[in-house]
Amino acid sequence: MDLFFWELARASGLAAYVALCIAVLTGLAPRTAALGFLATNRAVRTLHDWTPWVVIPAALTHVVALLLDATARISVLDLIIPFQTSYGQLAIGLGTISLDLVVIVIVTTWLRRRLSNGAWQNLHRLSYVGFVTMFLHSILSGTDLASPIIAAMSWASAIAIGYYSLERVGRALPIAKARA
Ligand code: HEM
Repeated sequence: MDLFFWELARASGLAAYVALCIAVLTGLAPRTAALGFLATNRAVRTLHDWTPWVVIPAALTHVVALLLDATARISVLDLIIPFQTSYGQLAIGLGTISLDLVVIVIVTTWLRRRLSNGAWQNLHRLSYVGFVTMFLHSILSGTDLASPIIAAMSWASAIAIGYYSLERVGRALPIAKARA
């Protein structure tokens, strides 16, 4: 049975990873040149708004499968507090940080009307940190990421997100300077 939960954890971890890459890329796209060749900003924005409905079930399946897999030795506390596991503390702890950040970003988006725009934006920017921790978690603890095809796709998405994040910062800086 543990083999089943292990395979389920790997497949759902990869699904959550892909969905989070799409979420970050479609979040960046309207303010950069990313995806402009593929769809209108409105279509990209709609896709961005729907990504939580893939991220939530995939990430939930990943952690529940790991809780049920006796070999993985993951406890409920490990889902909240990082670096407490009896092995792979850094690799798995980074997964815990990603999960915590994903929860913060999704919950604060649902509560957006109760927050000021600035507060919401700052909290939403935590998704960049979440992406970095998730990428490192996947690379360091993944079994399937050792496969050249999956590793190449994973690095390509990380490089694209890194590139467009820098492009966005480059576009935002002159505007911020002009306002100051
Ligand atoms: C949003 C949150 C998370 C995402 C997107 C995510 C994603 C991933 C991905 C893509 C893999 C690699 C799958 C593979 O290549 O085999 C992985 C592996 C793993 N994750 Fe996560 N993870 C998250 C949260 C967590 C949490 C909270 C824990 C435990 C506290 C955790 C524990 C593990 C473990 C133990 C593995 C290794 C599975 C194996 O043996 O292959 N992950 N995760």
